[in-house]
Amino acid sequence: DAGKGEYDHYMLKEIHTQPTALSNTIEGRVEDGDVAFEDLPAGTFSDVDTVQFVACGTSYHAAMYGAQLLRSAGVRTDVVRASEYASKTGPVDDATLVVAVTQSGETADTLDAVRKATDRGARSLAVTNVVGSTAAREADDAVYIRAGPEVGVAATKTFSSQAVTLALLSQRIAADVPEAAAAADRETMLEDLTDLPEHVETVLETTDAEGIAREFHDSDSYFFIGNGLGHPVALEGALKFKEITYEHAEGFAAGELKHGPLALVTDETPVFAVATSGDDEKTKTNAIEAQTRGAPIVAVCPDDHPLVDVAEVHLSIPDTHPVWAGLLANVQLQLVSYHAADLLERPIDKPRNLAKSVTVE
Ligand code: G6P
Repeated sequence: DAGKGEYDHYMLKEIHTQPTALSNTIEGRVEDGDVAFEDLPAGTFSDVDTVQFVACGTSYHAAMYGAQLLRSAGVRTDVVRASEYASKTGPVDDATLVVAVTQSGETADTLDAVRKATDRGARSLAVTNVVGSTAAREADDAVYIRAGPEVGVAATKTFSSQAVTLALLSQRIAADVPEAAAAADRETMLEDLTDLPEHVETVLETTDAEGIAREFHDSDSYFFIGNGLGHPVALEGALKFKEITYEHAEGFAAGELKHGPLALVTDETPVFAVATSGDDEKTKTNAIEAQTRGAPIVAVCPDDHPLVDVAEVHLSIPDTHPVWAGLLANVQLQLVSYHAADLLERPIDKPRNLAKSVTVE
């Protein structure tokens, strides 16, 4: 269905399509408790000693998510903003795998970064939504996120599908790289992945994002904080918010708040605190720092997380493995941005000055 259907905007439709998109992303990729990618058999990455992710915008946040998981599996990993590749890359040689994360497969900065890496001997892999895109054609290998076409300029379902694909890919790569080890709780992680589409459905059915958007939509500024996997989710939450509401929003690693941004915090700067596991002490303590300066705290976390006792407001996410919890938190934040933009009567599907795909450097 190419139209908006029952929805007022493509963005809202695409947010609501996430359970189906995620089912497609996952299909056939977890078999007998193991991760399998059709065109990437065991041994594909046995010559790789370093993985470098390159991406822009929302795809960069998904790349940060994947990079953290790969790093924690013991693989040397770097994540570079594609537009900064020339000055930010570390050493690259034929033991480097460059992974381009790009929904469209056409972003000029990302394509350029991959070409620079492959010129130095790197092997390349495109993680994209578009079959036959330039990235897919130019890279040595391509993995499709299978999210289906995305019309809204602000990426939503493709972020979720990218993050899941990269989480699975991190397991596939780690299995081949000699010094790496599979995640200790991999079995539970893969089991819980099966429930992710249903958990997203629960968020969509039970969310109070509209009420929260209404409560805070005339604030001065909006902060999003998180640590660990909550960090890329906080950055993505802020990016989405600024893209479609035109309001000032910033995302921070929770622990950085006190190194500058705290100077801006008042009772007019709601802080969305993303917590995805029990391991979010920094997010809680820094949320309290902001609260002491008057900021209302919106906790985006499971019901039993200690942050709930601190926060004024709570956006609930179902209990699941911490690797998937961040994606559920992200769905809540997508909905907050959508409803805030709707209240402000912004042209949600086509925000000013932005393009779905940026084909110039
Ligand atoms: C543009 C879009 C963003 C997107 C970025 C990267 O800026 O507006 O939503 O995240 O490009 O696009 P890509 O197709 O490479 O993922």
